[in-house]
Amino acid sequence: MAQTMIPALEVVADPDALTARAVERVLAAMEASPYGFRFGLCGGHTPEGLYRALARPPAEGRVPWERVIVFLGDERRVPDDDPRSNFGFVKRVFLDDVRLPMAGVLKPKAALPDGDAAAAAYEKLLRREMGTTPVDFLLLGLGEDGHIASIFPSSPALDEKDRWVMSVPAPTTVGPRVPRLTLTPVRILEAREVLVLVSGAGKAAAVARALAAEGDERACPARLLHRAGGKVTFLCDRAAAARIALA
Ligand code: 6PG
Repeated sequence: MAQTMIPALEVVADPDALTARAVERVLAAMEASPYGFRFGLCGGHTPEGLYRALARPPAEGRVPWERVIVFLGDERRVPDDDPRSNFGFVKRVFLDDVRLPMAGVLKPKAALPDGDAAAAAYEKLLRREMGTTPVDFLLLGLGEDGHIASIFPSSPALDEKDRWVMSVPAPTTVGPRVPRLTLTPVRILEAREVLVLVSGAGKAAAVARALAAEGDERACPARLLHRAGGKVTFLCDRAAAARIALA
């Protein structure tokens, strides 16, 4: 069993402070990666403030866009113009406003009817454009059911040892209940830095389960991050960290 370590926890006052701190961490990671920045994005609502802040001054002027590659850590298997599309969301609140060449945006063909083919095609794209170089910075959200990316409780992705991307069924614990593409632990655990962005009282129970010393990955997939050996930080506002006994 690989060495496990409880991820770090950083608590800030509120959602605005969460956005500000996340911007600082992204920019610091970019400045520490002079030869290219492979940046994994997540969907959901929590990162919207971060994406909007990165697309505007002052942060926007500090981003070395010419050497940034962005990709999605997971996607709903719907067309890009579907309101449930993570790519559609990220494009609207972030990519449409920045000087990032489209070659720097690695997008899955999420609407392909065959999920396994869509997953294989996305993995092929990621490998072609990033090689086996680890992701420099992977942004994740946390679901109330303890999922990260689209790795839901009892997900087959939890046991994956080879593939970077898998097609998984629609979740039964959270919405939207559509089939997904998701990074697997294989690619997630290689990342040089993982930031899990969590806001709101509704996530407090999931944060407590994710960061507890003991627990079951199948029940709380975010616990797979304990296998990442110290490269993971849960950045939470006070409401999301309310169930954690802070020393
Ligand atoms: C997705 C996301 C997912 C998200 C969490 C938290 O496709 O739904 O990538 O993993 O990060 O569900 O979502 P919220 O930020 O909306 O709470």
